[in-house]
Amino acid sequence: MRMTELAGTQVPVIGQGTWRMGEVRGERKREVAALQRGIELGLTLIDTAEMYGEGGAEEVVGEAIQGRREQVFLVSKVYPHNASQRGVPAACERSLRRLGTETIDLYLLHWRGPHPLEETVEAFERLREQGKIRRWGVSNFDVDDLEELGEPACATNQVLYNPEARGLEFDLLPWQQRHGMPLMAYCPVGQGGRLLRHPALLEIAERHGATPAQVALAWATRQPGVIAIPKAVDAEHLRQNAGAAGLRLDETDLARIDAAYPPPTRKHRLEMV
Ligand SMILES: NC(=O)c1ccc[n+]([C@@H]2O[C@H](COP(=O)([O-])OP(=O)(O)OC[C@H]3O[C@@H](n4cnc5c(N)ncnc54)[C@H](OP(=O)(O)O)[C@@H]3O)[C@@H](O)[C@H]2O)c1
Repeated sequence: MRMTELAGTQVPVIGQGTWRMGEVRGERKREVAALQRGIELGLTLIDTAEMYGEGGAEEVVGEAIQGRREQVFLVSKVYPHNASQRGVPAACERSLRRLGTETIDLYLLHWRGPHPLEETVEAFERLREQGKIRRWGVSNFDVDDLEELGEPACATNQVLYNPEARGLEFDLLPWQQRHGMPLMAYCPVGQGGRLLRHPALLEIAERHGATPAQVALAWATRQPGVIAIPKAVDAEHLRQNAGAAGLRLDETDLARIDAAYPPPTRKHRLEMV
């Protein structure tokens, strides 16, 4: 697995998302097994949030990492409405309980909400001092939000990034690269939708003996400091996603993607799902 640095530690460039897990009780066994299989394949960064399945996804993750906690880099997120002085530690305690762990490796503010950023940061810093989290970061922040935050301690910004949503290449990605802040790309395979049926991705995939999802993941992680977190329950999807870390796109491939999905030439509003 190809690795990259995130706030002083090595993490795989491809991890595992968990949105939509923990929503249906009957699916739990499959989801736990998928996360465990992913860990075995080297997808050891796991992204979750108190929002996913209203705690259900964190419970699935907790079950999956039992006995293998030290192999995993665990990311979770606090709801914006909980991101106050008192709300953050309470939400974090609930997440720790569901995850069955003593500490979260990276704790993110899911998106900007009603509470002042300084309040959230103070609460994060206190959790860090107490060892309940190792680092903190943000999600769905655009350049102006990051500048307002003005915090070198912010370990990452997790945002929507794939060929269909590449407006952030104009300003946000260069900003993060200049500041040495890794970008965590969510929906990197376009939620398994029409991106994976685009002729450009199909052609490139065929040329490399790969799949369109692998092309999308290789594309997102082609540049330094980008980590992709596809969610997959299907065993074949997991195998492909782990394999994508070894796929290198060449100039011809990148030009084909640029022709299909032109790079931004002006500022775009940050996209979110
Ligand atoms: N911070 C935020 O606001 C935010 C927002 C959205 C997402 N996220 C995080 O980012 C993660 C990824 O985003 P996402 O789940 O929305 O979208 P995604 O990872 O782009 O797509 C997931 C979908 O694609 C399918 N898939 C996965 N690998 C595939 C492959 N190799 N070939 C074909 N299909 C494949 C999955 O199917 P199966 O499950 O059936 O395998 C699932 O239906 C989330 O799970 C979550 O952890 C964060």
